[in-house]
This record gives sequence, C-alpha cells and structure tokens, in this order.
Amino acid sequence: MNAPLLSVENLSVSYRLPEGGAVRAVRGVSLAVARGEVLGIMGESGSGKSTLAAAMINLLPPGARIEGGAVRLGGVDMLRLPPAEQRRLRGRAVAMVFQDPMTAFNPVLTIGRQMADFAGAHDPARPARGALAARLARVGLADPDRCLGRYPHELSGGMRQRVAIAAALLMQPSVLIADEPTTALDVTMEAQIIHLLRDLRREFDGAIVVVTHHLGVIAELCDRVAVMYAGEVVEEAPVDALFHDPRHPYTRALLACDPAVVDPASGRLPVIGGRVPDLAALPEGCAFAPRCPSVVAACRTPPPRRTPGPGRSVLCHRAAP
Ligand SMILES: Nc1ncnc2c1ncn2[C@@H]1O[C@H](COP(=O)(O)OP(=O)(O)OP(=O)(O)O)[C@@H](O)[C@H]1O
Ligand code: SF4
Ligand SMILES: [Mg+2]
Repeated sequence: MNAPLLSVENLSVSYRLPEGGAVRAVRGVSLAVARGEVLGIMGESGSGKSTLAAAMINLLPPGARIEGGAVRLGGVDMLRLPPAEQRRLRGRAVAMVFQDPMTAFNPVLTIGRQMADFAGAHDPARPARGALAARLARVGLADPDRCLGRYPHELSGGMRQRVAIAAALLMQPSVLIADEPTTALDVTMEAQIIHLLRDLRREFDGAIVVVTHHLGVIAELCDRVAVMYAGEVVEEAPVDALFHDPRHPYTRALLACDPAVVDPASGRLPVIGGRVPDLAALPEGCAFAPRCPSVVAACRTPPPRRTPGPGRSVLCHRAAP
C-alpha cells in the first residue's frame, strides 16, 4: 500500500455510564487508508462503526473518551492537536458525510449561505455563488442555482445527501468519511448516491472511508473492508477476498445473511443466533464465542491476530496463520 493518508493506531474509545462502568465501543483498532483507496467498515448495529468514524475526524459525542491510541492524518496525531488546529484540519484535510444530512445542516439558513459560511471558515475569500452552483451541479443537482436559495427542509433526502457530499468536498479534503451515507434513503435514491460516490472517487484525489451495513455498497464501492464486531476489527481483507474467502466465523455468518448470497436451493436466509454482547460487560476471551459455531475451549482466551495473506488479518484462534 502507498503511504497511508489516514491511519488509526491501536485506538480505544469508551462511553462512561452514569451508573458507573463504561461501554467499550472501540477496542484496539488499527486501520489505514491510502490515496485513491476506498475502505469499507461493516458490522452489525452497535459494533462501534460510528464511534470509530467519529474518532477519525475527532468529532466524538460528549461522554466519549479516548482510552488510548492515535489517529494520524498525514503523520500528525489529530487527537493530540489543540482544538483550534483540529477545527482547521476538519473540512480541509478530513471531512464527513452523515447518515441523515438534516443533522448536518442548520434548518434556518439557506443551502448557499451554509456552504459559503463553511468555505469562509477556512478561507477568507468566500467562494462566488457560481462556484458553489458548479459544485452542486457536479453532484447531480438539476437546478443548482435555485437549490442554493433553498432551505434544507425544502429538499428531498437524496438531494440533501448530494448537497452534504458537495459541502464535504468543498475544501478538497484528502480524506472523506461517510457514515451510512445511503441508509436513510429509499432504494432508488440509495442506488443513485452509490453511483455518485463511485463517479466521484475517480476524480477525488484522496481516500474514502465508508461505514455501511449494506453489502451492495461494499461490493460496488470499496477496495478493502474491515469487519467490526463488539468494538474490534475481527477481519480485514481486499473486497474480493472477503466475499469469496471469508476467514472469520463472524464474517462468514454476515455474508450468509445477505439475500444476494442466499442458497437458491433452500431460499432460506441463515440468521446469526444470539445477540451482540454487552460492551460494558465483555467476556474474557473472544467476544464472538457465545454465537460462534466453531468455538473451542481455547476461545476463552483472547484470540491472536493472524495475517493469512497480503492485506488480510483475522482475529481468531482457529484462523490459519
Ligand atoms: N453517546 C453515547 N453514549 C453512550 N453510549 C453510546 C453512545 N453512542 C454509542 N454508544 C454505544 O457504543 C456502542 C457502539 O455504538 P456505535 O453507534 O458506534 O455503533 P454502530 O456500529 O455505528 O451501530 P449502528 O449500526 O446502529 O449505527 C453501542 O453499544 C452504543 O450503544
Ligand atoms: S476465536 Fe473461537 S469463538 Fe472466536 S471466532 Fe474464532 S473460533 Fe469462534
Ligand atoms: Mg452507526
């Protein structure tokens, strides 16, 4: 891999609980993404994907605490920069697109004003209206000039997500992070946004991290995938290797759940039995053990990370070295 644009090193993040104890949402995660690459992060609800994505741009919610590790952007640890410096990097070096773009917009300001304010916060020469309209046209908005004069609630969900993507790319960041960018949309809109991101990746000279639980997004957009379970990356692999030769029992179970890979003979969807463990009271050994069909006695101790091939890693006692 080229030198990474963004790397996460042994990162752990917890949420303190009011009644005492902590939810260990991200546990010892290491990942890297290089220029021109799209990294997918997938996993069940509650596996820590959004917490990891928010840590990558150092925008963790109140109550979250970095327990250790680093998030390096071009070699600089974002987590240890003074707040003013972090704000400067956010948007310019790394930008984020959220699941529901409504949360990212101010409801009482027009789209044009918000985009201009955003750019103006980084560059005193505010962009001309024509330049903003050109950005909106690039993300496929049919009447960009009119759109600039509209308020967020006057746009459809799909239009808002296009505007959010245009705004995130406004300052030409080197890393774009998208947390479930299509989940709030209907199927048609979802397909359109996947196409847009695929088009943009060709001309975007940076790295993209996309969080999703949609296997179609992974297959159509990503080069590499990290699978999260209970706060850990349990498997990482190039996308083809992951789909054709998954090595972690959890990845196998997840892929078996996708309708696209349902056994046509039985037509039945396998389900992963059991539920995601309580992140405030994790078992001693492998967190997947209570649901794992391959569990053995050794799984009561923490599993080793094995590297079965180029770009691959698997956190499991039973994975081949
Ligand atoms: N603000 C918060 N305060 C306390 N706990 C939180 C907070 N945000 C998330 N958590 C907990 O942290 C864990 C990881 O949550 P996170 O939102 O990162 O998962 P996720 O993989 O993004 O899930 P989803 O697919 O539902 O978006 C969960 O147990 C969740 O309940
Ligand atoms: S370490 Fe054991 S329990 Fe965990 S995934 Fe591997 S085989 Fe299953
Ligand atoms: Mg999430």
